[in-house]
Amino acid sequence: MQDIIMSRLRDKDTGTADFRANAQKMAHILAGQAIVYLKKKKIDVATPLAKTIGYMPGQDVVLVPILRAGLAFLPVFLYYFESSKVGFIGLKRDEKTAVAKEYYRNLPAIGKNDMVVILDPMLATGGSAVSAVKILLSAGVKQEQILSVFLVAAPEGYRKLRRQFPKIKIIIGTKDKKLTRDKFIWPGLGDFGDRYFGTKRRH
Ligand code: PRP
Ligand code: URA
Repeated sequence: MQDIIMSRLRDKDTGTADFRANAQKMAHILAGQAIVYLKKKKIDVATPLAKTIGYMPGQDVVLVPILRAGLAFLPVFLYYFESSKVGFIGLKRDEKTAVAKEYYRNLPAIGKNDMVVILDPMLATGGSAVSAVKILLSAGVKQEQILSVFLVAAPEGYRKLRRQFPKIKIIIGTKDKKLTRDKFIWPGLGDFGDRYFGTKRRH
């Protein structure tokens, strides 16, 4: 199923509405993987027939979409992590150098026991993800609290993130083959933000 959804996203002829619908489907699959990492607390539950053991969340969640493309995953993650606080980090890659520059930061208070979930569909050079993790660490978050969620990753970006922050958790929908010379993921799906938001480039 995941391969079918990914193929719709990769296809350059997939239009905006279809791209959005399939991005939502992948967000559900990734959120399902993220839930596994949430700490749980045992509780007593009374069914209509008996008393049994149940569970409730054992920690608060802070969702941090990386603007802009990370916004695509936010509604689905809020659906599953419905009480989450949401923080925002705005990062934009320079079109020539592919170096990400921060243009916005608005983070809530983050507790020592919170799970902090970074949302960004694309992990290319890893520059944006590394910056996002550094921003969170500078806000007092520990690596162990961070779960980063990506849809498509290039091996280069994955290695960079893993090497710099060995204790963060990483979820990836699919790992692609390489980066192109202009730092796009190959075969990839082009510019996720532009395709999801219906703006310019098809790349
Ligand atoms: C894209 C993507 C990641 C980043 C990945 O964002 O959403 O944030 O590139 O590339 P990297 O691993 O080489 O840093 P972009 O900067 O294009 O901004 P956008 O989300 O506003 O489209
Ligand atoms: N950002 C994207 O949206 N796509 C890429 O291939 C690389 C960075």
